[in-house]
Amino acid sequence: MEEVIRINGGKLLDGTIKVSGAKNATVALLPASVMAYQPVRIAGIPDISDVNSLKEIMRFMNVDVQEIGDNELLIDPTNMENRVLDLEAVRKLRASYYFMGALLGKYRKVVMRMPGGCDLGPRPINLHLKGFEALGAHITYDNETIPNDIIITIEAEELVGTRIYLDFASVGATINIIMAAVYAKGRTIIENAAREPEIIDCINLLNRMGAVIRGGGTSRVVIDGVDRLGGCFHEIIPDRIEAGTYIILSAAMANHVCIENVIPYHLDSLISKLKEMGVNIVPSLDRVDVYSSPALNAVDITTMPYPGFATDLQSPLSALMTKAEGTSTILETIYPERFKACEQLEKMGAKVKIEQPQAEITGISHLHGCDVTATDLRCGAALVVAGLMADGMTTIHEIKHIDRGYQDIVSKLRNLGADIWREHID
Ligand code: EPU
Repeated sequence: MEEVIRINGGKLLDGTIKVSGAKNATVALLPASVMAYQPVRIAGIPDISDVNSLKEIMRFMNVDVQEIGDNELLIDPTNMENRVLDLEAVRKLRASYYFMGALLGKYRKVVMRMPGGCDLGPRPINLHLKGFEALGAHITYDNETIPNDIIITIEAEELVGTRIYLDFASVGATINIIMAAVYAKGRTIIENAAREPEIIDCINLLNRMGAVIRGGGTSRVVIDGVDRLGGCFHEIIPDRIEAGTYIILSAAMANHVCIENVIPYHLDSLISKLKEMGVNIVPSLDRVDVYSSPALNAVDITTMPYPGFATDLQSPLSALMTKAEGTSTILETIYPERFKACEQLEKMGAKVKIEQPQAEITGISHLHGCDVTATDLRCGAALVVAGLMADGMTTIHEIKHIDRGYQDIVSKLRNLGADIWREHID
């Protein structure tokens, strides 16, 4: 039996949809929280499968993780043990790599399986590892303990602050190096740091726990090492990619949809692009209203690190591009394999030409429902957008990818009037 998402497309959407806490912040905040020696309470945790995997890993280390009320966790690492992370959950999400920085910082040693995650082509972690080495860590690999897998050991006698220049402004490397450096001796400076809002959120949590980190949100992050982190309360920022997905699907199918719990500033690059397309969109303080638009124009996008156009939103936007008059182009500079979504859209009638690292989408195409596969999380989001637009029934397979990042997507969209449901098929 396989569970699929089915959509009868063509329904106009009306109503309000509330965005959950940010996945890509949460997956860093949970590993960061275990660096404390006291309980940490975090609110706004999305109910997604990546969080379940992280809870499993934390509990495996004897961290007491309690659900207290809606979307809140009390994480108590008082009796935590630095165990070898050889459990399967590590491979279910890429962000388990944040335990590297967290445990290296706290215990000077981490032993774990290599992380998994969405298949978006080669996703090296060389910048994370180079950063750990610059702080004084040694790295060894063992591929014999678990067949077809690699166990990585990162350890240091002591971590000493230093100046680290990142060859690329990597989100993961920036956060991971910050976490290790929080417990290093002296000052660490990360140059060419990534500037994503999720990094600022993680820094805010660590500072509340007692860390001394300045420059979050700029390309130069300065960390002054401390001896001990304590407990605190923190609320996670809204998920800008989930919000962006709902804004895009509203641009396609809304009569009037209000997207709530958004920081529109985090979505500047998307909102200005949608305005250029002719989308009737009104951002305000913490919400975005989208109204039906008479006609859409083709646009060109280039994915870039924040504040550029997010790679995570190019797949959902590619579905909307099928509805725009003319040829739109996407230049993907972060993850070339993202164009797998375009290949699925082609099955639904999209006119797509892929010449890596660029794709062209020519509209207007009237999409038709068929069987498609979510090859990764954001491809899944693109297929939901496309399914809502298409004539007839779309069946989306491999929805485990969608469940990794979108809390209650089916019920949220049903509330807007979409004809969408989950079904078990043989
Ligand atoms: N890169 C390296 N070496 C490294 C690290 C990254 O070459 O050591 C390269 C990557 O291969 C990629 C680029 O640098 O080409 C960007 O990677 P980055 O490290 O910034 O991405 P990430 O931390 O692996 C996070 C999000 C992704 C999102 C990217 C880009 C998390 C858990 N993941 O990944 O989110 O696409 O930043 O914004 O925060 C998703 O949510 O669907 C998702 C994949």
